[in-house]
Amino acid sequence: MLSSSAAFNLKPPAFPPKDFVFGCATSAYQIEGSAWNEDGKGKSIWDTYAQTPGNIGHNDTGDVACDHYHRYKSDVQLFKNLGVNHYSFTISWTRILPNGRGPVNKKGLQFYKNLLGELHAAGITPICTLYHWDLPQALFDEYQGWVDRKVVDDFKHYATVVFEELGGMCSFWSTMNEPGTFCVRKRFGEGEGSRLKSKSTWDPSAPLKCLHNALLAHASAVKIYRDGNYPGRIGVITDGQVYYPLDPTSAADADAAQRAMTYYFGWVNHPIWNGDYPPRMRKELGSLLPTFTAEEIALVKGSSDYYAFDGYTSGFATLDPTCNPKNSSSVSTPTNYNNGILIGSPTQGGWNFQVPDGFRAALNYIHEQFSPPVMYITENGMAVLNEAVLPIDRVLDDANRVDWYRTYLQQLRAAIEVDKLPIKGFVYWSCMDNFEWADGYSSKFGVTHVNFATQQRTPKKSATFLKDVITKGHNLDH
Ligand code: NOJ
Repeated sequence: MLSSSAAFNLKPPAFPPKDFVFGCATSAYQIEGSAWNEDGKGKSIWDTYAQTPGNIGHNDTGDVACDHYHRYKSDVQLFKNLGVNHYSFTISWTRILPNGRGPVNKKGLQFYKNLLGELHAAGITPICTLYHWDLPQALFDEYQGWVDRKVVDDFKHYATVVFEELGGMCSFWSTMNEPGTFCVRKRFGEGEGSRLKSKSTWDPSAPLKCLHNALLAHASAVKIYRDGNYPGRIGVITDGQVYYPLDPTSAADADAAQRAMTYYFGWVNHPIWNGDYPPRMRKELGSLLPTFTAEEIALVKGSSDYYAFDGYTSGFATLDPTCNPKNSSSVSTPTNYNNGILIGSPTQGGWNFQVPDGFRAALNYIHEQFSPPVMYITENGMAVLNEAVLPIDRVLDDANRVDWYRTYLQQLRAAIEVDKLPIKGFVYWSCMDNFEWADGYSSKFGVTHVNFATQQRTPKKSATFLKDVITKGHNLDH
């Protein structure tokens, strides 16, 4: 006869569910290094932007980053030791097609073949993304990149090459990461945006054109993949966050919050899941918002096998009566346009606030709005406040990051068990510290510390916590 506590111990761990995708993520420019001149790689807009003094604090660049291009073998062993069953990475367009189109760079392709081979040997399933903001500089110079429709054909060509060469080695694809970020919130991912912003007149239709072209490029790549009968699934990774009315008694603030979410989630996802842009955007933006032909609607609608969500934080919204969405750059940033104010406990400062119940609310919002058959969280994580300047023992003892993951995973568990959402995976950001875009190396999201002077990697406490959750199951309540 078992004592009740022994019987309790026999209960299967509540989380994660069986066959759950549990991974960590990185992106090419943020970790690879070997910036633009090794093995035939061409220059991307991020090489240009970061290499221009004054653009990033401390003049940080991704020139070396985690030197992953040379260290991928030991990095795959590191990922294996993290216990993850999936690894999400992105392919650098300019390693494959140094000028964006034209001759294929065999050495660049070989790098990804080698990486995929190592992952398979280590028993880790790859999640492969074609584009994470590092547009070929040559295409930007020629036609300013995503704002021009020409990018669709170039992206199709790039996708065709990659699927033909790597389609047999990866069966979980995403066309691009966070089009809303590189087109809208970061104005083309800093690299392009900074140039466009420095022009005397900012074209408020630029983010709209960028996202329109990104949607067409994404959907065209999905068609190529599906027509090629590759044995896998494909979609697009998008971000989002819920907004709460700043004044909970104000109908105007409630409406501002709804509007912010319509723009944040719906701009990309309404066309994909429901066909065409959200009616509210059409009504408010009129002719500024590009239109799809009937054929394009058919192409874009249904162009994702799953909903992939990068979810971090939440915000407050209030109505800003001075804001005219049609005549200022605010059209591009629904957060400003609703005067979004972030909530929760600050982590790094800035935007990365810990709001776990907002995360669950976002998952429910997605399901309500778009009814996807399968959902994955493709990024979630935390930059610890001032981590870059803390003593190493404090950095490694990242109890607050453990708390972040525990509280977010509790909400994820509730979304699965209580709300019955079809969530099949959680990928955290990031496997290791890396180059955090405009914040350079001053903001760290890794569960593994990287000493950028020596390239030594050391797992933090959060790595052990997540490994235990993944490999042993965890009730998450202590
Ligand atoms: C979103 C992006 O996809 C990734 O590149 C970035 O580093 C993380 N979130 C953290 O900001």
